[in-house]
Amino acid sequence: MLRFAFFDTKAYDKPAFEKYGPKNGIEFKFFETKLTPDTASLAHGFDGVCVFVNDRIDSAVIDSLAEGGVKLIALRCAGYNNVDVPYAFGRIHVVHVPAYSPYAVAEHAMAMLLTSVRRVHKAYNRTKDHNFSLSGLTGFDLHGKTVGVVGTGKIGRIFIDICRGFGMRVLAYDKFPAKDTDIQYVSLEALFEESDIISLHCPLTEETRHMIGEESIAAMKKGVVLVNTSRGGLVDSKALLEGIKSRKIGAACIDVYEEEADIFFEDRSGHIIDDDTLARLISMPNVLVTSHQAFLTEEALENIAETTVGNILGFFANGGHENELCYRCGNTDSCKKHRVNRCF
Ligand code: NAI
Repeated sequence: MLRFAFFDTKAYDKPAFEKYGPKNGIEFKFFETKLTPDTASLAHGFDGVCVFVNDRIDSAVIDSLAEGGVKLIALRCAGYNNVDVPYAFGRIHVVHVPAYSPYAVAEHAMAMLLTSVRRVHKAYNRTKDHNFSLSGLTGFDLHGKTVGVVGTGKIGRIFIDICRGFGMRVLAYDKFPAKDTDIQYVSLEALFEESDIISLHCPLTEETRHMIGEESIAAMKKGVVLVNTSRGGLVDSKALLEGIKSRKIGAACIDVYEEEADIFFEDRSGHIIDDDTLARLISMPNVLVTSHQAFLTEEALENIAETTVGNILGFFANGGHENELCYRCGNTDSCKKHRVNRCF
């Protein structure tokens, strides 16, 4: 039996992992705590760790895991900006789940957009209180509006299809534009200038960090609606708040927040929120916040567990897996994936 230490466990994680793990020879030991330098020693003696978006796998954690005999870091998510992948090279192998339900995320982005522009969240609260007034609930048609999509990978493309279904004009920007497509690519500057709605679907990298900041917000249309279901760090949240306060940004729908690690996924009701920017954003009538839940559908949870178990089995039984992450992949001299099925 392979033994995996499962960090940052939530109740919704267990059913699918308990379904796919034991029958495939993997025992998951569920820890509620996140993986940090302080908790890494809990994984000593395990074959691997299974981690999520807000576990912090920095050099100190990687050293501790390696020292404790851990051989594999299995991310149960797609994004890996929380893992020091270059540092892990040569020390511990890392696998991830490249796609589990791009539909879940794209559909959530549209759900947030519709909720925001048609004030559904306000109407819901009002009618619960038998308040049937319509004042302040005027929205606008999505039909005919221009949406700017940043990142046209799996999720971005599905979001584009959904927007087209609504009769919207779609502009897109991608650092690596798709070739076999009728997507209309424009420069990032043109996208900021022309879009009524901007939706982010690119990864968080050093290059994309704060791509939405003071300067880019200044270049946008007045009243623009920003949707971020990708990663919080893409948006400078202080600049976003200023944009809301100055009325430049008409509405913001955010499923991710740059300082979300200690807040999102937790029940913080009854606690004082120390993050003034987040507290102020939440207090705004035109800001909709969900707690990194865009991925959270039954289909996605099943796929995550099934793929993660496949990644683990592939690594231990077959010597490697196509879902291994490595910053040297493609460099045939230093990454061995093409020869031995493992990156090092
Ligand atoms: P993907 O890898 O299929 O697509 C990402 C796209 O971004 C690619 O087309 C790539 O060329 C493009 N890109 C890379 N660098 C760029 C840059 N500097 N500027 C513009 N575009 C750039 O990824 P996928 O599956 O579509 O996911 C997108 C993002 O969604 C992920 O990076 C992840 O952070 C986020 N995500 C959020 C979830 C949530 O629950 N809120 C769940 C799953 C993913």
